[in-house]
Amino acid sequence: MARISVSATAAVSMEAEKLRAAGVSLVDFGMGEPDFPTPEHIKQAAIAAIQENFTRYTAASGIAALKDAIRQRHRDDFGSQYERDEVLVTVGGKHALFNAISALVDHGDEVILPAPYWVSFKDQITYAGGTPVIVATDEADGFRLSAEMIARQVTARTRMILLNSPSNPSGAVFPPETFRGVLELCRERGIWLLSDECYSKFVYDGRPYSAASEPNGKEWLIIAGSLSKTYAMTGWRLGYLMAPKAVIKAAVNLQSHSTSNATSFVQKAGIAALLGPQEPVSQMLAEYARRRTVIVEGLRAVPGVTCNMPAGAFYAYPNISGLLGKPGVKTPLEFASKLLAEGGVVTVPGEAFGTSSHIRFSYAASLDAIHEGLARFACFCAKLR
Ligand SMILES: Cc1ncc(COP(=O)(O)O)c(C=O)c1O
Repeated sequence: MARISVSATAAVSMEAEKLRAAGVSLVDFGMGEPDFPTPEHIKQAAIAAIQENFTRYTAASGIAALKDAIRQRHRDDFGSQYERDEVLVTVGGKHALFNAISALVDHGDEVILPAPYWVSFKDQITYAGGTPVIVATDEADGFRLSAEMIARQVTARTRMILLNSPSNPSGAVFPPETFRGVLELCRERGIWLLSDECYSKFVYDGRPYSAASEPNGKEWLIIAGSLSKTYAMTGWRLGYLMAPKAVIKAAVNLQSHSTSNATSFVQKAGIAALLGPQEPVSQMLAEYARRRTVIVEGLRAVPGVTCNMPAGAFYAYPNISGLLGKPGVKTPLEFASKLLAEGGVVTVPGEAFGTSSHIRFSYAASLDAIHEGLARFACFCAKLR
């Protein structure tokens, strides 16, 4: 347990909760959580399932109809081909990643992880006994990642490469060539590619992509998916793994001794989400696109701040190095806590994501909140200069 720490995003939200309870008004850019309600037809499917007493244990790996819905949605969206026994239903995307990493990473194994990375990746790897091998990406180059950058870090101990595109926190989208090159490397060297597709539907330019659409390399590919963000279902806890049978079997064994099945009636809601109308997803994406422009322009207007335009997901990851340096505001961590205490704005410091000059803003918040938060942020930064 000493190897891991509390998730930085959860820690920030606990701190904000304390202030809120004390009556402080806050603008919250902390949690990566859609502010939209879960679409009505998904809620109705869960209610109907409860009314029909679909409230018992299911198979630990999930019900067949949901596994079929997962592979059908993925096939329709990306042209992938998975059998039912290559799918596992999990209690959220985080659980899918945890199962895959726990099943495959052993003590002494190395896992290649590009930075900036999502908070839980590193702790899940170290919890399993593995060593994260960080590949820094260049902000000036849009946090671009190439297969060559990964290849340089491969050793005899490399067990897995973990990619997340669109990325939380940078919003970077890795091109298909990167995935193709990495899959090639995986085949040559016998390494797993774990691809976290949590934000795969939230891409602003171009089409969503999955490595599972590649004709080669599927035998080394593990897809971790989540319904949380795509369908505004964060609290429902539903995700999945798609991988070669042997990996799914190992992950099911593990899951059968821990959580067992994802909540029975939530699985029914999942079918409605995946096979029902997909318009709510495009409506949410259109709204995130509007917010993206407002928040990035607002951040860029603050002297001392630079910000890349995120190509996907719903996070802005501005560089605040121009504002760091004074006593008490030397690091993003110090900056973010002062911004919270004095400016009433919740953000997550970049240290949590493996960079030392950034803070993360989640723009899954209303436009009103974004305007108010930007005004507070500008005012706070002006006082620092
Ligand atoms: C990159 C990434 N992967 C996975 C998850 C897990 O989401 P959930 O467990 O809610 O499905 C998140 C949530 O923030 C995320 O940002």
